[in-house]
Amino acid sequence: MEMPDSLRTALENLLDGVPFNSLISDAQNISMRYRSHGPKAKPQIKERTEALAYAASRMPATFGAVYTALQSSLLSLSSRPESLADVGAGTGAASWAADSVLDLKDITCIEKEKVMLDTGRELMSHGSGALRRAKWVNNDLSVSDIPKADLVIASYVLNEITGNIRKAVIEKMWSAAGMMLLIVEPGTPEGYSNIIEARRLLLEAGAHIAAPCTHEKSCPKEEKDWCHFTCRIGRSRLHRMLKGGKAPYEDEKFSYLCAVREKCNLKGMRVLRHPLVYSGFVQIEVCTPEGIKNIRLSKKNGEKYKKARKASAGTLLSADETV
Ligand SMILES: C[S@@+](CC[C@H](N)C(=O)[O-])C[C@H]1O[C@@H](n2cnc3c(N)ncnc32)[C@H](O)[C@@H]1O
Repeated sequence: MEMPDSLRTALENLLDGVPFNSLISDAQNISMRYRSHGPKAKPQIKERTEALAYAASRMPATFGAVYTALQSSLLSLSSRPESLADVGAGTGAASWAADSVLDLKDITCIEKEKVMLDTGRELMSHGSGALRRAKWVNNDLSVSDIPKADLVIASYVLNEITGNIRKAVIEKMWSAAGMMLLIVEPGTPEGYSNIIEARRLLLEAGAHIAAPCTHEKSCPKEEKDWCHFTCRIGRSRLHRMLKGGKAPYEDEKFSYLCAVREKCNLKGMRVLRHPLVYSGFVQIEVCTPEGIKNIRLSKKNGEKYKKARKASAGTLLSADETV
């Protein structure tokens, strides 16, 4: 998967003239601050050069995570959101991802750090349609209201908000969401624990789950493991130079939850890990309403075997594709 050309070009133009060494050191500083602050991370980006480094180094991955999560979420829904509130929008990656998947008419981005907001707004001015018209609001989610929208997205934000404030923000996001709320977090135990907390609160508030869970019982991963998925994003030359390494892609791990107002028609099993392929058979770990199962399909299962081989973590298989 790639970011849209218009976003890549806008980013390259914005970075034109920024000394490359300072971009690298800012990107490394941000990454170190995020890692060293641990589960209750609250690193803040206050300098324009850091906002640019964030955009260059992290936007491809957060774009990819939101794009993938949103596509999976929409599979079980019959209607499509037309308005978006992107909360903790940063430099706008989630809005770009949602705009690539949906026919959005209206986007509002809420961001508390002015330098992130300015960078995001500048990038979006090179987009078209709803992106170009997007409204940017310089607000702190913990104290301000969230405007109503069909879809509310919080991408890589909850892990920057602590304790009771986080709960209040989840409740506010749900009140604002006319149709659906998508929360995406890093694919780490901490990111997953934020997702699980949100899942509990949202189910208590009467929400239904569109993805990734195929049921609304407690999460079978909660005790010993964490649920996360991976998306693969192509790396530009600039990105390779910034983050080191030669691979033409990077794999981003993320956890997510899509809560919806209307009960959705979610059936089947979510593949949790890349299938294990053995000689003559394939083994897949799936999440089902009856808990986690390991299913084996052999060559004798024909098309079902072929489909299972091609599955990856996150694929939704219907029940009759696995028996
Ligand atoms: C890791 S960045 C993610 C940005 C973007 N959503 C993405 O996926 O690339 C988190 C963003 O959330 C913003 N943020 C954190 N706490 C916030 C709050 N209480 N109110 C508004 N924005 C907040 C930060 O300033 C930062 O720009």
